[in-house]
Amino acid sequence: MIVTTKKLFEAAYGKYAVGAYNINNLEQTMGLFQGNLDSQAPFILQISKGSRDYTDKTMLEGLIRSADEYFPESIFAVHLDHGDEETCYDCIDSGFYSSVMIDASMHEFDENIAITKRVVEAAHAKGVVVEAELGKLGGVEEHITVDEADAKLTDPDEAKEFVDRTGCDSLAVAIGTSHGAFKFTGTQGLHFNVIAEIQKRLPGFPLVMHGSSSVPQGEVERINAAGGDLKGAKGVDASQFKRSATLGVTKVNIDTDGRLVWTRVHRELFLEQPEVFDLRKPGKIFMAEYAKFIAEKNGYLGSAGQLENVRQLVTE
Ligand code: 13P
Repeated sequence: MIVTTKKLFEAAYGKYAVGAYNINNLEQTMGLFQGNLDSQAPFILQISKGSRDYTDKTMLEGLIRSADEYFPESIFAVHLDHGDEETCYDCIDSGFYSSVMIDASMHEFDENIAITKRVVEAAHAKGVVVEAELGKLGGVEEHITVDEADAKLTDPDEAKEFVDRTGCDSLAVAIGTSHGAFKFTGTQGLHFNVIAEIQKRLPGFPLVMHGSSSVPQGEVERINAAGGDLKGAKGVDASQFKRSATLGVTKVNIDTDGRLVWTRVHRELFLEQPEVFDLRKPGKIFMAEYAKFIAEKNGYLGSAGQLENVRQLVTE
């Protein structure tokens, strides 16, 4: 069942965070739905501009509609990740997306507000909810690269003004994370003081944490041992998700970790069994491993076991 992120946030706020996972293909979709059902969790399925172009947006949409039918127990939102204005309108008009993100964070404050406000008006007219972004995360996210020197934490006062003036439904905040597999070079971590200050000014308002992959060291070691080269990769400590959730972080974005599972499975299989050329062999293993990974992540987020509570709320 496809619902808005707003519904999921109502159930979760202050208690747990909902996992928002990026998908591109059939195997990820199968693992994602299975893992969320295994852990009885509601979730957010994220589609980036890059994944809309990987095959084609209609192919991806068809895949998700089929998964919705094949896993009738699932409750999830379909969300555009890091949209520009044009892509947001395309998703809003499609009638398929329940939520879009307009990322105009690369613009000056007033310009970010003007763009976000236009998208909010168009989205709300069609019952679609909007995530916006304020502040600058470092790292690499598909088409966007931000140097660490240009990264900027969200200013709590500006966050309040931004939400008031745009009418957005949730806000992605820069609180110390960055996109990709190389998040921290030293002892950096989440800035809980900044999250707490934002929550003080926006009580009850859902905050979003991008760049939340944990980059598990075991995974990195296995990839490197099987011929990969991801030395120095480091991510967010997953045991900090629940504390963030009590401070209003209600959506946690995870993409890189899923890619690492894919890389490990394929590298190991082809290294150990060089005679294999049946794509279904690694595909089968990946689907099961990805489902396991999702279920485990939902445990850290606290969304595991919440499916029936959410069902009651959305069917009331
Ligand atoms: P990671 O690169 O940490 O997985 O973050 C993904 C993300 O924030 C997508 O919007």
